[in-house]
Order: sequence, then C-alpha cells, then structure tokens
Amino acid sequence: MSKSLNLFVPAIGVTTLALGLAYGLSSRDYGAQTIETLETRVQQTEENVARAIAEAQAAAEEAARLQAERDQLEQLAAEAAMSGSDLTAPAPVIEGKYGLGRTALPEEIAAWDVDVLPDGRGLPVGQGDVFTGEEVFVDQCASCHGDFAEGVGNWPVLAGGFDTLANEDPVKTVGSYWPHLSTAWDYINRSMPFGAAGTLTPDETYAIVAYILYSNDLVDDDFVLSNENFTEVEMYNSDGFVVDDRPELEYAEWQAEPCMVNCKETVEITMRATFLDVTPEGGGDSVMNDATTSDSPVFSASASAEPTEESAAVEETGGVDPALVAAGESAFRQCKSCHQVGENASNRTGPALNGILGHTIGAVDGFRYSDVFQEANAAGEVWDAENLAAFLADPRGSMAGTKMSFRGVRDEADITALIAYLQSFEE
Ligand code: HEC
Ligand code: HEC
Repeated sequence: MSKSLNLFVPAIGVTTLALGLAYGLSSRDYGAQTIETLETRVQQTEENVARAIAEAQAAAEEAARLQAERDQLEQLAAEAAMSGSDLTAPAPVIEGKYGLGRTALPEEIAAWDVDVLPDGRGLPVGQGDVFTGEEVFVDQCASCHGDFAEGVGNWPVLAGGFDTLANEDPVKTVGSYWPHLSTAWDYINRSMPFGAAGTLTPDETYAIVAYILYSNDLVDDDFVLSNENFTEVEMYNSDGFVVDDRPELEYAEWQAEPCMVNCKETVEITMRATFLDVTPEGGGDSVMNDATTSDSPVFSASASAEPTEESAAVEETGGVDPALVAAGESAFRQCKSCHQVGENASNRTGPALNGILGHTIGAVDGFRYSDVFQEANAAGEVWDAENLAAFLADPRGSMAGTKMSFRGVRDEADITALIAYLQSFEE
C-alpha cells in the first residue's frame, strides 16, 4: 500500500510540474510560476521523507518482535532437549565456548554405539547359519565379492590367501589375515553392502559371517553362528599380531634423564650431511658405503706401488706465498669432513692428501678408489696444478664416476689457494 503511494506521489509531482509549466508559459509569468512549482515539489519531497522514516520505524519494531519470538522458541527447544523428550527438536543454543551444539542425548549415543569388540561386547542377540548366509551373500555381496567370496575383478577378496602373508605380495583376506571375527561382524554390519550400508539385520549379518567363515574352510557347512558361540570361533591369524607395548617398555626408557657424566672431552665433527650423497648414483657405491671402509683390504692398482719421478721434482716447490697458504687453509674447511692433511693424517671418507701434488692419481696407500680413479692410476696419470684445479672445480665433471661427493669449489681464487695449501704438506 505505502509503496504504491510512493510511486503515485512523484507522478502527481510531474503532472503538477507539467501543468505549472504550461500555465506559466501561457501567462508569460514564467519565473514566478516556476518557483511556485518547485516549492510544491520540495513540499512533496519532505512528505516522502517523513513517510520513509515512519516505515523504517515500523520495520525496526517488527524485527524486535521477531527476535523476541525467536528467543522464546529457542528457550522452549532448550527446555525440551533438557528433558530429552523430543529428538526431532532443533538444536538449541548452548552455553559453552562457541555457543554451538549441545550434549548428545543417550538415545543418540546408543544409535551410534554399534561397535563390536573381540570379546563379543556389543553383539546383538541373534544367529545365522551357513546356508542362509550363502543366499544373502549371493544376493547382496557376490556381485562384487564373488559367489565364493573370491572377489570379482578388483573388488576385495574375502576368502583364501592362507600362507601368503610372508610373501612379497600377500593376499590378506578375512580368512587369512583378520585376527578377530568381531572385526568382520562389525565391518559388514556398519558398511556393507557397499552403497547400502546399514540395511542388514543382525541375523543376516550372523549368517553372512558364518558363510564367509565357511568359504575360508574355518567351519563346516552345518555351522550356525550366534552371539552365544561367537567368541569360540578360532581365527587363522589370531596370533599374527603383537600388542604394541612401547608406551610401557620403550617410552619410559627414552624419557629418562640423559647421562651426562664421563663424557668424551672433545667433540669432533666427522661428517656433514650436506656432503653425504644419501641417494647413491649409478652403481650404489656412495661415500656413505665407503665411510667405514678405510681399514678394509688395500686394493692394489698396478701402478700404485711405483714411485714416480715427477713427484719428487714438483714437491720440492718451496717458497709458496704464506698468505695464499693461509687462505687455502681456510678454504680447506669444506674438505675436512672427508680429508686429512698434516702429521698423522689418515684416510677417512677421502684419502689423506699429504704430498698429493705430483703424486700419481689414486695412489694413497690403503684407500679404495672408484673405478675412474683406478683407471687414471693404471694409466700413470699424475696430479698437477692444472688437472687438480679442474677436479676441484667440478669433481664429477672432470672424473666422471668419482666417489668424491662434493659439489666443487666455485671460486677460482679458492682453488689456487687450496692447491698452494695442499702443496705445503709433504708426503
Ligand atoms: C558394490 C560392490 C560391493 C558390494 C555389493 C559389497 N561390497 Fe564389500 N567391499 C566393497 C569394497 C569396494 C570394499 C573395500 C572398501 C574399502 O576398502 O574401503 C569392500 C570391503 C569389504 C570387506 C573388507 C575386505 C577387506 O579385506 O578389507 C568385507 C568383509 C566386505 N566388503 C563384505 C561384504 C559383504 C558381506 C557384502 C554383502 C552384504 C558386501 N561386502 C557387498 C564392495 C562391495
Ligand atoms: C664428501 C667427502 C669429500 C669431500 C668434502 C672432499 N673430498 Fe676429495 N675425495 C673424496 C673421495 C671419496 C676421494 C676419492 C675419489 C675416488 O676414489 O673417486 C677424493 C679424492 C680427492 C683427491 C684425489 C686424491 C688421490 O689420491 O688421487 C683430491 C686431491 C681431493 N679429493 C681433494 C679434495 C679437496 C681439496 C676438497 C675440498 C675442496 C675435497 N677433496 C673435498 C671425498 C671428498
């Protein structure tokens, strides 16, 4: 009603304006008439505003009334829920942190509480025999699981598979794998037939479970399963699982105070994870595998025992720049996880590097080198500043297949320094 009035008023306004204009033009008193017409319009607008305000007030009152009505309904619902009388009442508002939900009713809990435990708790009263089970199974389950529970296509197999559990590809079925019969009852009752869960009666479920036992040769064809004899059924794999007793036996041990007495005096970092190639390349002969083999039998490559003439010559290089050697020492930190130099240096993940310049490649006593190193050794190749620089810059690029799992030294100045440093150690 008020809306159509609203539409009507401007229409009158426009008409008045048009009439006014016509009159004004005809009377030639154009200005005065126009002002009069505009005054009329202003007055009409004011009326419209007053009406709109009144309407807004009415709407607010209506909203308040509805809110009050809602509050009342909610209170009634809350009272109804407290008395537990009406399960279909809408969930009322609740105290509690988020003001959501309410405490479940005993009836609701009972409806969800369908689990059946290995000791038979939760089983409803009922029974079913193998023959009835076969009928129900063929009717409701066989389309997926096969007439004899052998499985159709890729649907799960429910029978057989005995003695395959230790195989690489074990056939785990209710018969071969499941340790408790209650799991079969519970699972079928809860979730099968696939897509129509919850439609089986307790007796049908007993009968089906009896039939699955029969399909697994665990019972005879005259067997009747019931809530009474349920726990007497022996499952094939009942001893195949162990109870997880780690919380009692192991966790306690780990939570004990760590022993902090009689500790070693020094802590030495022997390896850094970044250098470890956790995934071996190619033949699987990684630094990891090699880390413990420095004491293993010497691989005697043919040339390893022969001292080379050049070695003596190059090694005599004296007078290397001390600053360069110092820089080399600090750059050598990235090699230390695998190589030792100096007095008592021994083979670690990599060979000891004393006197390496001018030395035959791959010839440090007692170190087991990669094939590519053994080949270079057999060919009598010798380390000089040039090939060593190339090797340090890109170990795998220059000696394809090397065991030195190291990304390489980027900075050329570091390489020069490293070589100077290595040169400062005589064999
Ligand atoms: C439409 C196909 C279909 C029908 C019909 C069907 N099932 Fe299943 N069944 C499945 C699928 C799929 C799974 C695997 C479900 C999963 O892993 O989540 C399954 C799993 C099972 C399992 C567990 C197998 C295991 O080793 O994990 C049992 C027991 C079972 N069904 C019994 C039945 C019974 C009894 C019926 C008849 C009342 C039935 N099923 C009807 C498809 C079906
Ligand atoms: C992750 C361990 C590791 C790191 C880090 C490493 N190396 Fe090696 N290095 C090796 C191994 C292993 C070999 C033996 C290579 C083979 O047999 O393929 C080797 C071989 C060498 C050789 C040749 C030795 C010989 O007897 O012929 C030199 C020289 C060398 N490394 C220098 C360095 C220098 C300098 C650094 C630091 C910039 C370095 N390595 C960093 C493991 C490492």
